[in-house]
Amino acid sequence: MTAGPDPVKIMKQEVGRAAAARVQSGQIVGLGTGSTTAFAIQFLGDRLKSGELKDVLGIPTSFQASVLAKQHGIPLITLDDTDHIDIAIDGADEVDPDKNLIKGGGAAHTREKIVDSLADQFIVVVDSTKIVDALGAFPLPVEVLPMAVAPVTRALEKLGGKAELRMGIRKDGPVITDQGNMVLDVKFDRIDNPAELEKTINNIPGVLENGLFVGVANVILVGEIQDGQPSIREF
Ligand code: 5RP
Repeated sequence: MTAGPDPVKIMKQEVGRAAAARVQSGQIVGLGTGSTTAFAIQFLGDRLKSGELKDVLGIPTSFQASVLAKQHGIPLITLDDTDHIDIAIDGADEVDPDKNLIKGGGAAHTREKIVDSLADQFIVVVDSTKIVDALGAFPLPVEVLPMAVAPVTRALEKLGGKAELRMGIRKDGPVITDQGNMVLDVKFDRIDNPAELEKTINNIPGVLENGLFVGVANVILVGEIQDGQPSIREF
């Protein structure tokens, strides 16, 4: 028996396509990180190649995003080259009903928060499995300076979190971020006040950034499968 197409992959692909379709000629676009945004980058590149879009410039949120953008022919600039970003497209690990997010499943949340928060419009692209009633089932990624991993772990435990150092896959030892830091994945029972927790964690000495994105997202595009057909919902 052969397996059918993976529904999650189809949802990611279609929502990536829908977000790329919202970019207009002349815009500066924040390019997020992850498997869903990878589709948006691919479709954006296709639109540029076909001539349907012109003069689009990308600002990548990670090494992975810059590699993909180059592969798909999207010219890149940095935050030194512009005073604004028109639109950012990025994925998320969880989205709550107030459009608050947990991000950082790909350890890129520090650069993502910088780029996504600067954009006039931040479009989040997710498949329907990411929509939750309350944040917290996904362990919260926290980027930490390597010399501060032990004290930050203790501080997070005092806040009620269970912190685990993220380990590499097919690489011995911890994951190292694009900035040369480490990531603690912190499991809280439930995050009732994301705005307060975001600030409290970022106040711990040694923490660079955590994956709570509160009040940053403007539009959430959700890829769904309805009656066997992919569709896109906006909220
Ligand atoms: C990377 C992220 C990603 O956007 C998030 O993990 C979602 O990834 P995917 O689209 O692969 O499910 O925050 O740091």
